Amino acid sequence: MSQDHQNNERRQQDRGACFLFGGQSLPAFSLVIFGGSGDLTARKLVPALYNLFRHHCLPGRFNIVGCGRSVMTHAEFRRSLAEFDRETRGATAEADESWEHFAASIFYQELSYDDPQAYQRLAELLNQLDRERHTAPNRIFYLAVPPALYPVIATQLGPAGLAAQTATNWARIVVEKPFGHDLPSATALDKTLHAGFREEQIFRIDHYLAKETVQNILMLRFANAIFEPIWNRGFIDYVGIISAEKLGVEHRAGFYEQAGVLRDMFQNHMLQLLALTAMEPPSRFEAAQVQDEKVKVFRALKPLNQANLGENLVLGQYGPGTVDGREVPGYRRETGVATDSLTPTFAAMKVGIDNWRWRGVPFYLVSGKRMPAKETRIIIQFKEVPHSMFRRELADSILANRLILGIYPEEKISLNFQAKSPGTKEYLHPATMSFNYERRQGSPGQHYDAYEMVLLDCIIGDHMLFWRQDGVELSWSFLTPILQECESCPETVRKLLQTYPAGTPGPEAAHPWMKLLGK
Ligand code: BG6
Repeated sequence: MSQDHQNNERRQQDRGACFLFGGQSLPAFSLVIFGGSGDLTARKLVPALYNLFRHHCLPGRFNIVGCGRSVMTHAEFRRSLAEFDRETRGATAEADESWEHFAASIFYQELSYDDPQAYQRLAELLNQLDRERHTAPNRIFYLAVPPALYPVIATQLGPAGLAAQTATNWARIVVEKPFGHDLPSATALDKTLHAGFREEQIFRIDHYLAKETVQNILMLRFANAIFEPIWNRGFIDYVGIISAEKLGVEHRAGFYEQAGVLRDMFQNHMLQLLALTAMEPPSRFEAAQVQDEKVKVFRALKPLNQANLGENLVLGQYGPGTVDGREVPGYRRETGVATDSLTPTFAAMKVGIDNWRWRGVPFYLVSGKRMPAKETRIIIQFKEVPHSMFRRELADSILANRLILGIYPEEKISLNFQAKSPGTKEYLHPATMSFNYERRQGSPGQHYDAYEMVLLDCIIGDHMLFWRQDGVELSWSFLTPILQECESCPETVRKLLQTYPAGTPGPEAAHPWMKLLGK
């Protein structure tokens, strides 16, 4: 090892042990990124790791090993990441110096995904790095590759001895959604992962769970005594969950044509938001107990009536339109999309939860691309007052209370209520009480972005922000019959699928529901 290298190592160790999560120090580890030369690595993973490094949140010793089919040296790999970093962050001498320290822990290994010998060579490299850099044999294997490669890679790691754990050292595998394409493929993928790894070694990422405001749903509900007694069918009229995007399909037509909005957004993010809003309080704030409660919600989802899907489901596909004053093409004109595509880019779904708390309360889930604005929020619409003593003075009925959990763009919680207008007469006017995350003063914690959060949790082995397989299967059980009905019968989908101009709030059939959500 060169002197420079050793100095860099020493500097990293001098940063001191990383203390996070109530004083827990992070273990030394090696993170192997399959798809190392790909987009996700350069755009999300390495920047997240670098940010953690700059904020002293990585342990003194760690290795990042990019793996991919491209032939590259360690230096070339570091250079390609550095160029990306400079382009996105802008160069400063200070950033350059800090990058050099960080990059000293980055390595590259060429690897053909289906070649068993390549995994042996990877095991040798990891062992060598452990010996030379005094890292512990704790391994994270991050699959930043197309889903078709998940089984190919997962089945090679076990035989190369890379999935093995000891009493003190661990091996973990991280997969990103989509977890399968439907229920049978999700179960098959899980079987493959389990061939080498046990459930506690598997981390299934849903980046929505790592958003601060999404995590706050449980805090709001269960750390405050005032919400829980009214969080039920007795007081809540309906719940709305909306995740709207301005962007179109971008460069992802290959994936999106097969997925559509139901697989892309509903199977994962939307159902997670629903579960967090609807679940019962777990007895402890621990991953297994939180997962248990979410799973009960998925189990209680009322199947949509197949014979009349249109009652509870509206599908849409964006046509040409205007977004931010710019003309944009319709979905069928996007590169890589079939000109007669029936893939939905918008869905609005009315879902029921068959349990004591929620019986009869509709949950409206809405997500779409090319809508007027990017916005994610949860709306808790309370019932109107049972009797209005102001009826004589007020022509209109009194607006019911509404609690809005803003996730994007504003990270805030607001409660709408009625207040008296100043003056002698009894005039009411709607008022809002707001709590804004960004403007919060004196916050003791560092704000981590979603990828930083999931990487940290994976390093400490906390499953709170990840999917558990039973949840994955139950969410597919709910959606698979709907997908089958739409996909096996073009007539059904033609009936349900309406075009909406890009830049508008979805197809007309969904407008009454959108109005309920304040759109
Ligand atoms: C991803 C979907 O999971 O979430 C994308 O694949 C979508 O299609 C994205 O654009 C939305 O995430 P966010 O965090 O921007 O709301």
